[in-house]
Amino acid sequence: MDDKYYTAGEIARIAGVSLRTIRYYDAKGLLPPVSHSDTGYRLYDKGSLSLLQRILMLKYLGFSLEEIQKLVAAQEADDLDQEAILDHQKKLLLERRQQLEQLISTIELAQKSPREDKWQILVRCLNLLTSEEKVLEQYQNPDNLQHRINIHTYSTSSQGWMDWVYERLALEPGETVLELGCGTGLLWMERPHLLPEGLQLTLTDRSREMLEQTRQNLAPYESELASRGIRITYRVLDANALELPAASYDRIIANHMLYHVERRESCLAAIARALKPEGTFYCSTVGDSHMQELHQLVTAFDPRIDMPFLSLTGGFHLENAKPQLLRHFTRVERQDQDNDLIVDDPQVIYDYIRSYPGNASLILEQRGRELLSLIRDKLEQEGAMFIRKSTGIFICRH
Ligand SMILES: C[S@@+](CC[C@H](N)C(=O)[O-])C[C@H]1O[C@@H](n2cnc3c(N)ncnc32)[C@H](O)[C@@H]1O
Repeated sequence: MDDKYYTAGEIARIAGVSLRTIRYYDAKGLLPPVSHSDTGYRLYDKGSLSLLQRILMLKYLGFSLEEIQKLVAAQEADDLDQEAILDHQKKLLLERRQQLEQLISTIELAQKSPREDKWQILVRCLNLLTSEEKVLEQYQNPDNLQHRINIHTYSTSSQGWMDWVYERLALEPGETVLELGCGTGLLWMERPHLLPEGLQLTLTDRSREMLEQTRQNLAPYESELASRGIRITYRVLDANALELPAASYDRIIANHMLYHVERRESCLAAIARALKPEGTFYCSTVGDSHMQELHQLVTAFDPRIDMPFLSLTGGFHLENAKPQLLRHFTRVERQDQDNDLIVDDPQVIYDYIRSYPGNASLILEQRGRELLSLIRDKLEQEGAMFIRKSTGIFICRH
């Protein structure tokens, strides 16, 4: 970057904003001058132009000035380079485009629908406008997570997902282990007898309710574990703002959760920092084609049902996670589980669909019986429903 300075007027002209706007952002502490001329004029440089572009982009995307201030400060603290900032902007714009496209098709649907259906479409609009909050709400509810887990008991593989993951951890006695987004603690619940002696396990989740459920699930094993020197600590922890001691963990685990972390880049950096030099980071996720048959069934039944889950996991799928991980780890190995679902219980399929974040449960208040009988008919004809799974884990080392 050259060291040319611009006055406030020049920078305003280049960006196509008023001088008042530049002064306003300066007064708010968002765009401070980088220097002053001998005669006291505020001076800016190319970095200020790039900062102004970020501010205006976030404003365009609908963030408040306070939110912009926080986001910019967080990006500065993470020391993000221009590439990472552009990636972030592109992601936000793509999400906004998708949301706009969904809103436009919802409005078009409302225009074509009879009067009595319009209220439902209005509900769909509301859900689209609040879909991110809905995902958070959904995770604060362990029942919904349980419905989504139940379907996986119909696996074609005799080895369940958690057993498969646990086997890959290959834990050693006395190790320090951290799990992010532990949910209801399923990874540990069914196999406390397998935990090696002296294990120091820290279980964390953003949701206090989830963590409480984990604590309750593991309570029956407490004294047995303590007798073998195994200590479990519970902490509410948001992976977006990790403050972890450096080089402290032998293993860090993020099982089906990294796609929910908005500040994934800084989260991965914090994980890499917290891992011991010989430590291992395990993160699992789903692939693009995961549960496709189920999503097709829902779309064919009622295209108004949102599937924000699909778009919200897409940022960290089996197909696009590796380059993200390679920015923080030298060795990244992907292992896929060979496993699908054959489900012969209509209620299990129905409960799974109903637990989708978004408007599924609202629409199914009206059309639930219809969907359930459609699933019943399908299973009667076909015996069971085949649902392809695509799940795997990345094993990462320094
Ligand atoms: C799909 S569940 C997986 C739970 C568990 N790991 C499992 O495999 O059963 C995702 C979990 O991540 C948690 N989560 C989502 N965003 C998070 C964040 N930013 N920080 C920590 N936990 C988060 C949710 O509360 C939820 O428990």
